[in-house]
Amino acid sequence: MSTAETSTDQRTFRPTTLDLGDVLLRPWGRALDLPGGTAAALVAAAADPEISRWNPLRAADPAAAEAYLDRCDTGWTDGRTAAFAITDAADGTLCGNVALRWTDREDGLAMVGYWLLPTARGRGIASRATTAVTRWGVETAAARRIEIAHAVGNDASCSVADRCGFPYEGTLRASYRYAGGEYNDEHLHARLATDPW
Ligand SMILES: CC(C)(COP(=O)(O)OP(=O)(O)OC[C@H]1O[C@@H](n2cnc3c(N)ncnc32)[C@H](O)[C@@H]1OP(=O)(O)O)[C@@H](O)C(=O)NCCC(=O)NCCS
Repeated sequence: MSTAETSTDQRTFRPTTLDLGDVLLRPWGRALDLPGGTAAALVAAAADPEISRWNPLRAADPAAAEAYLDRCDTGWTDGRTAAFAITDAADGTLCGNVALRWTDREDGLAMVGYWLLPTARGRGIASRATTAVTRWGVETAAARRIEIAHAVGNDASCSVADRCGFPYEGTLRASYRYAGGEYNDEHLHARLATDPW
C-alpha cells in the first residue's frame, strides 16, 4: 500500500477508450490501427513545426515511431502512463494526443500533456480531451493533483490550461530543455481532485 487510503493498484491507469462524440480518445500502442498506418501518422505529427517546437516527439522515422508505440504499451502495461490518440469519430484519422502520467504515483501527483495536428486546432478538442482525461484520472485512478507545465511563450497551451480549470501557480526557471538544447522557463498550472468541475 502506498498510503493508508490509496494503494498503488488503485493508482493504475487501465486501457480504455473515451468517447467525446466528435472525437475518440484511444490508447496509443502497437494495436492502434490508424488509417494509413499509426507509425506514419506519428512521423507526420513529429514533423509539424509547432509540435516539434513545443512538444517534440521522438518519432522522426518509422523505426522511432514504433519504439514510441512500444513505450506507450509499456506505460499502459505498468499503469504509469495513459497515452491516448485523439481520433476523428467519423473517419478514424489522427487529430492529436493527450497523455496523463504519474510523477509521484504514491502521492497521487500526475502531469497531463497534449498536442493537436494543425487541422484539429481551434475547435476546443485539446481542452475537451484534457478535461476528459483529467476527470478519468481522478475518478478511476485516484489522481489527487494534476499539473500542466508549458514553456513561457506557448500562449495556446496556457489557454488550454486556463480553459480546463488549471490555474497558473508560478514560473519554473530553466526547468525544461527543448529541442534546440536551450533551457526554457515554464508556467506551472494545476488542478486538484477537489476542485469543482
Ligand atoms: C496547444 C494546442 C494543443 C492548443 O490547440 P487549440 O486548438 O488552440 O486548443 P483547443 O483545442 O482547446 O481549442 C481552443 C480554440 O478553439 C476554440 N473553440 C471552438 N470551440 C470550442 C469549444 N467547444 N471549447 C473550447 N474552445 C473552443 C477556442 O475559442 C479556441 O480558439 P482561439 O484560440 O482562436 O480563441 C495546439 O496549439 C498545439 O498542438 N500546439 C503545439 C503543441 C503544444 O504546444 N503542446 C502543448 C505543450 S505544453
